[in-house]
Amino acid sequence: MPDRDRSPAVVRLGVNVDHVATIRQARQASYPDPVAAAAIAEMAGADQITVHIRLDRRHIQERDLEVLVRTVQTRLNVEMAVQEEMLLLAERIHPHTITLVPERPEEVTTEGGLDLLAEGAAHAVRAAVTRLLAGGMQVSLFIDPDVAQVRAAGDAGVHMIELNTAAYAEASDDADRARELERIDAACAVADSLDMYIAAGHGLHYHNVCALADLDWIAEFNIGHAIIARAVFSGLEQAVRDMVDLLR
Ligand code: PXP
Repeated sequence: MPDRDRSPAVVRLGVNVDHVATIRQARQASYPDPVAAAAIAEMAGADQITVHIRLDRRHIQERDLEVLVRTVQTRLNVEMAVQEEMLLLAERIHPHTITLVPERPEEVTTEGGLDLLAEGAAHAVRAAVTRLLAGGMQVSLFIDPDVAQVRAAGDAGVHMIELNTAAYAEASDDADRARELERIDAACAVADSLDMYIAAGHGLHYHNVCALADLDWIAEFNIGHAIIARAVFSGLEQAVRDMVDLLR
């Protein structure tokens, strides 16, 4: 491990409650309510509530954001695509944090980070970042753990990033996992040198999160599917407590 002069004092857990809304939308019902889930998650120790409002509204609805922004006691982090419709929504709802993510209509879940090196992408992202910061929100960019992407995020004007941990979570064997951890470690070192707040998420669960936390760079983990899946059997409060216990 390289020498470091700091590591996050507290590791924060953002609980993503999208999949509570997925169950609700499966029947177009009024329950289960992600707002209730957010309150329980906070009581169980969550430091943040994270939701992704997708262009197709497959889970989180505008109503959820309208209520969550008034009821969340910690911080509300809203993930959204870099689209005018979404930027207008952010300006109307005004959550604590906006995390800009890429979105493809046919994907099952977010498939990768924003490609800030792609032609035209950096300009659109920088314009969105400038606008959201001017609106008084914190802005984070969801990017792959790639040194060039981290530097491009800095160029786009953000002081927060969320590293996409999907490749780490999906690694097929120990060697692959070790390689992905090294990529994340290198990306974190660059982000830290740029004084960025480092979050991470996607595909994390009770059995793979500790190795990432042990890197000592990451200040925040956003975890959804694994917590909501465990909650089916253990209850949401217990599922959140189990994750908090792992991270602290
Ligand atoms: N972070 C981001 C940017 C995401 O898009 C998602 C999935 O919506 C998550 C974290 C949570 O991923 P998971 O549900 O796999 O824990």
